[in-house]
Amino acid sequence: MTLELLSGSPEDTFEIARLLGQELVPGDVVGLTGDLGAGKTCFCKGIGAALGISPDRVVSPTFTVVTEHEGTRRLIHVDVYRIESTREAIEIGLDETLSGEEAVCVVEWAEKVTGLLPTDSIRVTLTFSGENGRGIVISAPDRGRFDGFRFRSKRFQPGG
Ligand SMILES: Nc1ncnc2c1ncn2[C@@H]1O[C@H](COP(=O)(O)OP(=O)(O)O)[C@@H](O)[C@H]1O
Ligand SMILES: [Mg+2]
Repeated sequence: MTLELLSGSPEDTFEIARLLGQELVPGDVVGLTGDLGAGKTCFCKGIGAALGISPDRVVSPTFTVVTEHEGTRRLIHVDVYRIESTREAIEIGLDETLSGEEAVCVVEWAEKVTGLLPTDSIRVTLTFSGENGRGIVISAPDRGRFDGFRFRSKRFQPGG
């Protein structure tokens, strides 16, 4: 599945992520790509909300790569902004974190660790479109479980 969505505000991005989060189960990995300020952390907050985690707990501390949150399902929030190489990522155990089945993993700057993302991971790309507009492209291996998300996110689809 590849779905192109339009967000007009941080609230929209949060809501899109929350709707996607409703479909996620432990073991899923969501890789986020987008420049600084594109809305990756905002997207993580929305996924976290779907897992019963308060948005103000989901932040991107400068020197912390992996943060775990306990909700109705566990969230592992990964931000590899400061990681220089796949080797460095493996040294801190990120390959094992991402292959775990205990939590939903969301990775900011996922393109830096492409080789460590499971082949069935969900990829999200955020691009700027004006000050508050964002294009959000979500691709996932074709599985029926995202049909519901496609339906519920209709109002964010072009012409929807
Ligand atoms: N449509 C939008 N979606 C997400 N964030 C937006 C949007 N429009 C404006 N913003 C602003 O952009 C910033 C995104 O920040 P953040 O989520 O931390 O980005 P990143 O983690 O990609 O660096 C926030 O200040 C937010 O208020
Ligand atoms: Mg961020």
